[in-house]
Amino acid sequence: MAISKKVKSVLDGASWIRRMFEEGEEMKRIHGEENVFDFSLGNPDVEPPDSLKKQLKALADNPVLGMHRYMANSGYSETRSAIAAVLAEESGLPFQEDHIVMTVGAAGGLNVILKTILDEGEEVIVPSPYFVEYRFYIDNAGGSLRLVDTNEDFSLDVDAIEKAIHRNTKAVLINSPNNPTGVVYSHESLEALGKVLERKSRELGKTLYLVSDEAYKRLVYDHITLPVVFHYYPHTLRVISHSKDLALAGERIGYIAINPKCEDIDELIAGLVFANRTLGFVNAPALMQRLVGSLQKNSVNIHAYEERRDLFYNTLTAFGYPVVKPQGAFYLFPKAPIEDDVAFTRELQEKRILVVPGRGFGKPGHFRIAYCVDKAKIEKALPGFKEAAEKYNLKAERGK
Ligand SMILES: Cc1ncc(COP(=O)(O)O)c(C=O)c1O
Repeated sequence: MAISKKVKSVLDGASWIRRMFEEGEEMKRIHGEENVFDFSLGNPDVEPPDSLKKQLKALADNPVLGMHRYMANSGYSETRSAIAAVLAEESGLPFQEDHIVMTVGAAGGLNVILKTILDEGEEVIVPSPYFVEYRFYIDNAGGSLRLVDTNEDFSLDVDAIEKAIHRNTKAVLINSPNNPTGVVYSHESLEALGKVLERKSRELGKTLYLVSDEAYKRLVYDHITLPVVFHYYPHTLRVISHSKDLALAGERIGYIAINPKCEDIDELIAGLVFANRTLGFVNAPALMQRLVGSLQKNSVNIHAYEERRDLFYNTLTAFGYPVVKPQGAFYLFPKAPIEDDVAFTRELQEKRILVVPGRGFGKPGHFRIAYCVDKAKIEKALPGFKEAAEKYNLKAERGK
């Protein structure tokens, strides 16, 4: 066999997201792009803000000497200082450039953190449903994943997290706004989680880490403000991506921010920088670093996403699908009308609608819709959702 048993077994169980996406590509070849309603992949359909394009042009016209060379593994000092200044303003904490490590997207950042903090066999607790790639990232670092269910409304079940923590636990990895549910974790739940982590760290005589994946940080709706995770627990590492807020998914740029109050911070930073280098990233892409430092308060047009969220949410609940109203990201995670989410997904597929079964996120009986898709396409797909709802006699009052 050409590949390891481990990789083989993973490939055999291929990711549901990828599987649906690939089947969608095939359907588009057969039926034509405009006749397939593909809500399978979280790939932003909007373009980066004009401010980014302007800067890119200015840089190309006035190149900085050495701008394509190697640099410090943590990234350019100017970029990290600019980010630290914005974080200091946001949090009131003394962020400085050393607290920032530029990474190859959030995926790179998470791998760097896990490689840095995990010893072989140590556990990372992840609330479920969850972004399935975590399983592989944790495995890459020799750790193991422990899933803990969220509440009915997908909010954090802090008591369940507390019960799951034991002497082999190293970190809790949360994701808000959440993929796949779009839920934003509340101030109260983060406060409770912070207290649990403080107490359990004391009891176990070790530092537990809170890793906060905020890949969708700036995609929040209803005028809500995302709670600042650093306020709830000192040993917090936040991972940021510009894949979604600046629509730069293919450019692979993000960063890790380390709470300045974290214990043994110098050692931790040295570990992160080492992992960034030796995982083979070496450093985050140079050109993108030059651009994103000054764009920390910019983002794509969030209102376009909010409008699609409203359209999908209002219509699906009117059809009778039970859906928790998402407050961020660009996903909805409705309950399927039948227990078998794969069978239901296949039924939608017959109507040329592509969604991902909930079991792909550790939560069967649901399905995920990624609405980073043109509004006109959503409108064309809605009758298919209606037909499926009628087939199973869904009633509007079941919506919540
Ligand atoms: C929850 C979550 N974390 C991390 C990532 C990876 O983001 P990036 O493109 O920055 O690596 C994604 C991508 O979809 C995601 O949904």
